[in-house]
Amino acid sequence: MNFNKIKSAVLGIGMAVPPKVLTNFDLEKMVDTSDEWITERTGIKERHVLEDGENISDYAIKAAKEALEKAEVSPEEINLIICATVTPDYIIPSLAVLVQDGIKASNAGAFDLSATCSGFIYSLIVADQFIKINPDWKILVIGAEALSRKTNWQDRTICVLLGDGAGAAVVGKSPDPEKRGIIDFYLGADGSCWPLLTLKGGGSCFPPFDERLPKEEFYIKMKGREVFKVATRMMEKICLDLLERNNFSPEDIKLLVPHQANLRIIEYLREKLGLPKEKVMVNINKYGNTSAASIPLALYEAEKEGRLKKGDLVLLVAFGGGFTYGGALLRW
Ligand code: UT7
Repeated sequence: MNFNKIKSAVLGIGMAVPPKVLTNFDLEKMVDTSDEWITERTGIKERHVLEDGENISDYAIKAAKEALEKAEVSPEEINLIICATVTPDYIIPSLAVLVQDGIKASNAGAFDLSATCSGFIYSLIVADQFIKINPDWKILVIGAEALSRKTNWQDRTICVLLGDGAGAAVVGKSPDPEKRGIIDFYLGADGSCWPLLTLKGGGSCFPPFDERLPKEEFYIKMKGREVFKVATRMMEKICLDLLERNNFSPEDIKLLVPHQANLRIIEYLREKLGLPKEKVMVNINKYGNTSAASIPLALYEAEKEGRLKKGDLVLLVAFGGGFTYGGALLRW
């Protein structure tokens, strides 16, 4: 079998976010911040958050059902479910098995993948490898996060940034590999930087209720300025490397879909690549940083807005805690 000739493509995409919206003005009443600071420094105006009694699995299942419908694939045809998340409903079981049960994917294996904000790209590339070996497989790749449940609502350096949501893609063999499918990818990590973005409490080092650890360490913490510097450098490098080694120039891209962490990072990238605004997807204003869900939410909305059509050259790029980073160059 010539594995190189087989390309995988996104056959259908879905998304779901909790209806509850928290605006910058709501946050002004909770911590010492302002709409002006948040807008200027991040580009975020509002974010969606889970209400009591809701779980992110509810939204991952909803997004998965929509993706299946769009791809015209039945749950029984799904061979594998990969959920990129750092905020599953439980430690055991995985979010992926809750989705498997929720959509009744009776023939699917299921596992979670932990790669923070790069999780969707990592999962997409894992799916791509499976499809190259099993070309008839259909794989659900999901990015879903309940970051509000791991947010310290008294910490203004983090609570203004994060939001909840889920995006799902059905990935399968491209019906036309010349015109559609994943062309190349970039995956990387730098574990030496792990102290810059952490959620220490609740893991096996410091189990829940461990009194050795201060309470604030049971929430996400970030040294934003340091992360910002590496994020801009790495995202630029990934984009340029992927384009160069595939003989494309930035002008060839129809749409750049970057992880939505900060509008200033996205703008930096846009300027470095010399792209006009219409070639860069931005929806951070509505959702904040949703970690692994951010890329599928952006892809979904880009397609819905008619900015992404079959065959278009798309560049995905993400960066997150760990550090992890990744990119994917594909024809939609
Ligand atoms: O998704 C994973 C990857 N994540 C990222 O890539 C995020 C990267 N980092 C960032 O996006 C930015 O660093 C932040 C948005 C987190 C912060 O923006 P910044 O421009 O780097 O601000 P800063 O941390 O340098 O803080 C500037 C000032 C500080 O006050 P002083 O020390 O200058 O008096 C902060 O205390 O802003 C203050 N500040 C705030 N003020 C109002 C920090 N958070 C807030 C806030 N409201 N929410």
